[in-house]
Amino acid sequence: MNLHPPRIDLRQRAQEAAEQRAEAGLVRRRRQISHCHGAKVGCDGQRLLNFASNDYLGLAHHPAIVSAMQIAAQNCGVGAGASHMVCGHHHEHELLERAIADWLGYPRALLFGSGYLANLAVPQSLLQAGDVCLQDKFDHASLIDGARLAQARLVRYPHADAQAARRQAQAHADGALLLATDGVFSMDGDLAPLPELAAIAAELRGLLYVDEAHAVGVLGPDGRGSVAAAGLTPEQVPLLLVTLGKALGTCGAVLVGQDWAIEHIQQTARPYIYTTAMPPALAVAALAAVKMAREEGWRREQLAALIARFREGARVLGLPLLDSTTPIQPLPVGDNARVMGIARELERRGFLVGAIRPPSVPPGGARLRITLSAAHEEHDIDALLDALAPHADAIAASTRGNVHPTTAD
Ligand SMILES: Cc1ncc(COP(=O)(O)O)c(C=O)c1O
Repeated sequence: MNLHPPRIDLRQRAQEAAEQRAEAGLVRRRRQISHCHGAKVGCDGQRLLNFASNDYLGLAHHPAIVSAMQIAAQNCGVGAGASHMVCGHHHEHELLERAIADWLGYPRALLFGSGYLANLAVPQSLLQAGDVCLQDKFDHASLIDGARLAQARLVRYPHADAQAARRQAQAHADGALLLATDGVFSMDGDLAPLPELAAIAAELRGLLYVDEAHAVGVLGPDGRGSVAAAGLTPEQVPLLLVTLGKALGTCGAVLVGQDWAIEHIQQTARPYIYTTAMPPALAVAALAAVKMAREEGWRREQLAALIARFREGARVLGLPLLDSTTPIQPLPVGDNARVMGIARELERRGFLVGAIRPPSVPPGGARLRITLSAAHEEHDIDALLDALAPHADAIAASTRGNVHPTTAD
């Protein structure tokens, strides 16, 4: 006689989940990009102007960066061959780490295959079971997953609420404290209250870790990010994440930090140790992008002017802008079906705009995520605003009376 309950059928469970997704309007489809030229892309056979990419400085197709990678691939091939700790750590990786550490003014850096992996690595390496990982409710999913991997106590405070962060840190007073926040929030484009968080970390003996994915290259002196923009030092923020796949136009990520932190992560982080190193030719491309991001301040100036132009135009149209001065300019819509309808209509008029639905944002928090780039021109912004104009009333009405949504898990 079998005393066990019947085993759950995985296929049936997946089918039920698929039906629920379809019912809730949450099925996601990948778009196929065939070619890119500046901000123009071929997408599923159409030519569109891209307002959905994170290539904020317009470096992803820069001819000098592309040719640096081509030449490097001829010299060092297309693969690293192994993980960093075996024999996959190449001279090119070392140069990239040093360049980023030097740019941000930190003693040491560590290269990862992606920002997602680096955000898994930091909590997993630094925290133990019972320690506290205190995070903003709007932090990126990878930071939440990192806390889970560490088996730490994940405690989340209301978005950008430093006083709540302080109260929660005080309420969880035992164990070590890692205070982790995005510098710029990926779905809202606003900034973390970094000076207040640094003060809390100093006072309560925590370590402040800032994810600069959407800030490096864009904000601060020489594009050094939100920590530098806030005037904070490596003593106040001992660990930072720089991702290479956004303003730096390539792929991968680099942690920069104090020597002891980087050494510990290098020795103990599973997402660092147990994975193949990024192709060295890609590190060469990223190095060329870092030099350009650092030296070509006009890209940031152009981007800032385009952001101001978009915000002013949106204001005139009565569009409900969020409190963002960064290239991420979301328009909250609320309803899943409505956001998809508007995105389709924009696409018909030649614009690719991110339609973000749960679980990337919380239920009821669907939005158009418009991202601007130095690759755009003024007339591109004006054309997008023209295309948004017919939807302005519907967008404004759908968000009226809505409190600012809280983030998804
Ligand atoms: C705030 C933030 N952190 C980390 C990541 C992950 O970076 P990557 O794309 O390099 O894995 C992202 C990517 O979307 C992000 O928005």
